[in-house]
Amino acid sequence: MVERLAGPAPAKVNLALDVLGRRSDGYHELDTLFLELELADHVEIVPSEAPGLEVSGPRAAGVPAGRANLAWRALECAAFGAGADPTFRVRIDKQIPAAGGLAGGSSDAAAVLLLAAKLWPQLVPRLPALALELGSDVPFFLTGGFARGRGRGELLEPLPPLPMHDVVLFPPPAGTQAVERKTAAVFAKLAELDSRPPAVSSVLELARGGSLSTEDLVGANALEHAALAVFPWLQEHRTRIEAVIRSPVVLTGAGPTWFWIGPSGSGDAVAHCAREAGLEVIVTRTAAR
Ligand code: C5P
Repeated sequence: MVERLAGPAPAKVNLALDVLGRRSDGYHELDTLFLELELADHVEIVPSEAPGLEVSGPRAAGVPAGRANLAWRALECAAFGAGADPTFRVRIDKQIPAAGGLAGGSSDAAAVLLLAAKLWPQLVPRLPALALELGSDVPFFLTGGFARGRGRGELLEPLPPLPMHDVVLFPPPAGTQAVERKTAAVFAKLAELDSRPPAVSSVLELARGGSLSTEDLVGANALEHAALAVFPWLQEHRTRIEAVIRSPVVLTGAGPTWFWIGPSGSGDAVAHCAREAGLEVIVTRTAAR
């Protein structure tokens, strides 16, 4: 009998994101560069007579517990797929800011799928399909690393690892209001606003050179304008960050987290300036794979 299975659920940023069009199923055709970060939640599944999901840790506030959490749905889907009962407790130690564009919830769900596949190996070939059923960002976390994602984000092409970079994250300031179905709201605004040239190929070319800076990513996220229209405070947050750190920041995914990326070892100085000015920051690195 398995006692406990545990694993990390890392965050991601999108280095670039192009929206190629709207599909008949309501989703958008994407071309994006996903990059795994060291910052991670920790997920465990434990056999239990009182099945359910609990969330703890510094970023637990506001994260849905129980069946409303995507990670619980992942467990149910996996158990159903294996013809088993979901008689487990899922425990999430939340380190990734929720609803920030860092895909923490998607990553937690993928971590549950990967743990479930250790219990029920017959699930392995079905993991990509199960992941996509749970959400567009979930398939990336089955392999992580650095990858190009097309389709809804699930047609993944692994890329050679990017050398280690520091990443400084600027989550939304405390007190900013959450937006219901945020990602859908940002995509909905896009129809009116996206007129920028595609950016993924040129960012990829720079990444192949081995070193990236935030300047290389300015304007590379098609969702940035739309997110600025959805979150009324987002521009002010960016202006404040950029004035303090004297560098541009860019948005990850549908936001609202801004980030800075630069050479390994340089993130602490950026974070120090920002903290001195009262900004909330998280310093992390690109994952080593
Ligand atoms: O797949 P997921 O549930 O994470 O997507 C949330 C919402 O984001 C979708 O309902 C859709 O409105 C939008 N979306 C999209 N095109 C994508 C991914 C997400 O329009 N490729």
